[in-house]
Amino acid sequence: MPLLLSRDDVIKVLEMKDCIQVVEQAFAELATGTAVLPLRTSITPPDGLALYMPAYLKEMGALACKVVTVYKNNPTKHGMPTVIGKVLVQDPKTGDVICIMDGGYLTAVRTGAASGVATKYLARESSDQVAGIFGAGVQAQMQLWAVAAVRNLSKAYVYDISSEAVDRFMNEMGDKLHLEIIRAESTDEILERCDLLCTATSSADPLFEGSRVRKGAHINGIGSHTPGARELDTEIIRRSTLVADSYEACLSEAGDIMIPIEEEAIDKSHMKAELGEVVTGKRPFRIDDEEITLFKSNGLAIQDVATAKLVYDKAVAAKIGTNVDL
Ligand SMILES: NC(=O)c1ccc[n+]([C@@H]2O[C@H](COP(=O)([O-])OP(=O)(O)OC[C@H]3O[C@@H](n4cnc5c(N)ncnc54)[C@H](O)[C@@H]3O)[C@@H](O)[C@H]2O)c1
Repeated sequence: MPLLLSRDDVIKVLEMKDCIQVVEQAFAELATGTAVLPLRTSITPPDGLALYMPAYLKEMGALACKVVTVYKNNPTKHGMPTVIGKVLVQDPKTGDVICIMDGGYLTAVRTGAASGVATKYLARESSDQVAGIFGAGVQAQMQLWAVAAVRNLSKAYVYDISSEAVDRFMNEMGDKLHLEIIRAESTDEILERCDLLCTATSSADPLFEGSRVRKGAHINGIGSHTPGARELDTEIIRRSTLVADSYEACLSEAGDIMIPIEEEAIDKSHMKAELGEVVTGKRPFRIDDEEITLFKSNGLAIQDVATAKLVYDKAVAAKIGTNVDL
């Protein structure tokens, strides 16, 4: 009988540190060839966009497919969220669906976790790092949670064009992480004070001048993932040692990378590694403390599948959720 897990059930069992661990394993499987990751399939019904994201992780024994929809008129027309996601977890031995779970919170945590893995391997180590978060929405919260899980942060700055979003962020994340969080008045304030940066906004245009980023900084760029949109300008891409979640995804979905290539400011070889190659030691990572490292994340189904397996196993162990006879 498949197990049904609501958003609240997922929240109860999903912790960032555990998620970083399984997402790291998923990237390692991608690099060593034991992951199956087809390109996501999209269908465009008249009112929105439906995405199907399957993957299989052999070593982890994880098989699942996430279904995500983006319906911009949902809030006004139907009183429903714009983005809705569910994950179908299968038993790799029988193929049967063993669990259906909400995918919203899971997506946010797994996106944070990929940045956590990248930060762990690429960011400089120091005892009192300062994080700078661009954006104060759901993903931005998870970015801070993830970098705080892998580095000793002394404080964090947050910048968003919405001051209500910053209020919410400061209240919720200050309590959760017991960390001093400061409202940045400008993007320059973040660039001057912080060396661990996360961009997690819905902006389609660059958030700051890349020439102003401090040497030695590490950046996780997660917000934009369509060819025409970018949070990062050509200059910061040019100055950075670039690590992709997937070369293929970066070359087909990431305006942050595709636009500088179109402008001929860089070519494909500017992407120095995939995250999985860094994790498995196939490619070297940070060379010196002056280097700016940049992880470009588009979001891969392997992250969802690894996280869904983690949630399922934990929910079964904790006897959480509802079994239904289909
Ligand atoms: N890479 C991935 O795997 C991945 C996964 C999920 C979502 N995303 C993307 O992350 C982005 C953020 O998602 P979310 O769920 O947090 O959205 P959200 O709507 O909750 O938050 C986005 C925030 O960005 C702010 N913002 C917009 N333009 C800005 C600017 N120029 N400067 C500063 N702040 C600005 C908005 O005010 C808002 O508070 C979206 O573009 C989403 O598609 C990426």
